[in-house]
Amino acid sequence: MSKLNKIALKILSNGKGILAADESTGTMTKRLKSVNVLSTTENRLLFRKTLFSSEGMKNCIGGVILYDETIKQTASLNKTIPELISSFGAVPGIKVDTGAKILAGSSEEKITEGLDGLRERLKEYYKLGARFTKWRSVFNISNKYPSKLSIHSNIHALARYAKLVQECEMVPIVEPEVLMNGNHSAQDCFDKTSEVIKKCFEELILHNIDLTGVILKPNMILAGTESDKKISSEEIAKLTLKCLKESVPTDIPGVAFLSGGQTEIKATENLNLINKHNDTNFIVTYSYGRALQQSALKFWSKDIKDIKGTQKIFNHRANMCTLAAQGKWSAKLEDK
Ligand code: 13P
Repeated sequence: MSKLNKIALKILSNGKGILAADESTGTMTKRLKSVNVLSTTENRLLFRKTLFSSEGMKNCIGGVILYDETIKQTASLNKTIPELISSFGAVPGIKVDTGAKILAGSSEEKITEGLDGLRERLKEYYKLGARFTKWRSVFNISNKYPSKLSIHSNIHALARYAKLVQECEMVPIVEPEVLMNGNHSAQDCFDKTSEVIKKCFEELILHNIDLTGVILKPNMILAGTESDKKISSEEIAKLTLKCLKESVPTDIPGVAFLSGGQTEIKATENLNLINKHNDTNFIVTYSYGRALQQSALKFWSKDIKDIKGTQKIFNHRANMCTLAAQGKWSAKLEDK
């Protein structure tokens, strides 16, 4: 087993998942504004530290994705944030792309940036304790999107990122996110997601990447948010598994889904059904941002000093997601 494969398995095994707490300062400011909390350095740290020191970290969270600001902060007098995360047995990770900008030659599609100077930044993050990384590419669906140009450019960047990360002895999460926004059908989502994932692995293989040390972070196969042809969770699970089986090489250790704007309960229910029917050899788990943090953030915003109360809400969510990652969740458990 390679060193990278070991790290990936430590993050994903035993029903554990990933807490994506890597919102950029701009995104975090929006999230805090939505619950009327001022986005100061102290408040961003307080909320994140509250989650990172929860009981739920121990049994549920295998890895935490941090943002540049957070990985450099201290949790207490003698502990950095990565040390706090490691003390719970979880692996510290870092988002290393610098965001999606308008793709030259297009008016709507985006290209994810961050390759310039990446090797040097990776070395610094490794020294700070990171052992895995994330890069998110983003694709819209419409009758003309994603274009061949957007797939080609984004996937090329993803593969170059992944190769640099492995060179620095960390596990790359590759996240080609096909967005939920739009009125497309689930079949459109299936077709476009499959195309993007297949291209992604072709490019990873071209770059000679060790697939046993890669984690795929895809979207589930859903009908668009504006579509009137919504499908059931059972159908979501079946189509999502079909997509994985047809598009993902069997060498990768695991898949960790993003929540993408689904509610906490929907993201949990869908993950549970995917695991119930899982006939792949991948570990299938979560790498949720909003679907792990939303209710904790709402509760915390009412009294930012109520650490214990906020942790209780987060622990519950993390427990539910970890049950779903084993196909053992049921709606009844949400009320307990
Ligand atoms: P969501 O689960 O909120 O979609 O965030 C996951 C993530 O890390 C997006 O890059």
